[in-house]
Amino acid sequence: MNVTYLGHGCVSVQANNKTLLIDPFISPNPLASHIDINVLAADYILITHAHQDHIVDVDAIAKRTGAMIISNYEITMHYVGKEFNGHPLNHGGACVFDDIHIKYVNAIHTSSFPDGSYGGQPGGFVISAEGKSVYIAGDTAVTFDMKLIPMQTNIDLAVLPIGDNFTMGVDDAIIASDFVECDRVLGCHYDTFPPIAIDKREAKQKFSGKNKELILLDIGKSVVV
Ligand code: NI
Ligand code: MN
Repeated sequence: MNVTYLGHGCVSVQANNKTLLIDPFISPNPLASHIDINVLAADYILITHAHQDHIVDVDAIAKRTGAMIISNYEITMHYVGKEFNGHPLNHGGACVFDDIHIKYVNAIHTSSFPDGSYGGQPGGFVISAEGKSVYIAGDTAVTFDMKLIPMQTNIDLAVLPIGDNFTMGVDDAIIASDFVECDRVLGCHYDTFPPIAIDKREAKQKFSGKNKELILLDIGKSVVV
């Protein structure tokens, strides 16, 4: 599997020659101005929760690509009602498409659409394919529920928010990486807005001080899982 960082909470996962795009928030992000949403690949669009900074480019990309939207029931039905393809999940449930196993797991956060309508309960995803698994935490606090994940799945890369303020910060993300038993972390949800600006060198030092790796990718760059 390949995981590409597209800024803020957005990553794309390439597995089994398919592309899963998670939480697209690209066109309003000045840090991602070199990423063109009109050429991004997407066979599936996974949405962790309904906040604006996770869905803003869903309509444009889904319309162009015909990608299937996978999220919680309320978010999926919101898009199905707009004539997009969708497959609803709810917490603890999983689906399999193209030999890619996608499970919707718990997160502690909120999930309203930009107009204030109900976006279900927020979640994260565990994506398993090609013998590897990636945990996409979504926006979340650190939570004991994370300990359930490695009871079932060996996580090879954990994509964790580290920007603090709206989600866990670096210190809590280190605890989260203990809980999911994965010492290889890709940081996200930082630097996009002033309240979530971080000191990247200090963040990496904190992780390496616990014998963990914090990967901070330039937007558009990838890691192999
Ligand atoms: Ni959020
Ligand atoms: Mn967010």
